[in-house]
Amino acid sequence: MNILVTAGPTREPIDPVRFLSNRSSGKMGYELAAAFAHAGHSVLLVSGPTALDVPDRVDFLPVETAAEMHTAVAHHLGRMAIAVFAAAVADYTPATVAAEKIKKSGDSLTLELVRTPDLLGSARSPLGFTGTLVGFAAETGPPAAQAREKLTRKQCDLVIANDVSKPGFGFDSDANEVILVYPDHTEELPPASKHNLAHLLVDTILELHQRLKT
Ligand code: PMT
Repeated sequence: MNILVTAGPTREPIDPVRFLSNRSSGKMGYELAAAFAHAGHSVLLVSGPTALDVPDRVDFLPVETAAEMHTAVAHHLGRMAIAVFAAAVADYTPATVAAEKIKKSGDSLTLELVRTPDLLGSARSPLGFTGTLVGFAAETGPPAAQAREKLTRKQCDLVIANDVSKPGFGFDSDANEVILVYPDHTEELPPASKHNLAHLLVDTILELHQRLKT
């Protein structure tokens, strides 16, 4: 099957030398891409900048900004059976990018930010994706309720929710603790390495895909 995975942070440029970004290392998404490939599937990994090696037997499309990630996803989504959105995409980007390095002047500097495209939120409509749609929800605090709101609003089949304020889990760690939020129920998984968790999540997502197809 063709499977799309997004991973990593995006970088939103402010000027030629500065950008807005976040703490995503890409580990969760890369482990998922590797586990889908290990299970014999054809994987396209669309990733923001990370320090990770591309997993074996995974097609790789590097991007930098949320807009670039949106263009890449929009181009490839139509041929995918499953799409998993693990990337930490910036919700806002600078309204303008300065052509030259911004010089120090005055005691404060105000940046105007504008919304980025919501990749996961546009998968069903306007992009028309009919495959199995899996999102993540990164919350600071108990994530289930907000994940359920995202599941409904973004028309997902499953949202994998993590509390990114818990030390040792979430952003830039080797482990994670997640709650699986389905339309009709919720399931808490025990903490695990991102490697082991990815294999479990891949089995779960493939089973869900089979169930949804029949
Ligand atoms: O990369 P790691 O260091 O391994 O960390 C893993 C992780 C914490 C990044 C990962 O487990 C995770 O939670 N990824 C989603 C991060 C996020 O941005 O969550 P969100 O709740 O802000 O977004 C909800 C969903 O919408 C996500 O599937 C996100 O990919 C998607 N989204 C968000 C904004 C946007 N403009 N486009 C999107 O597609």
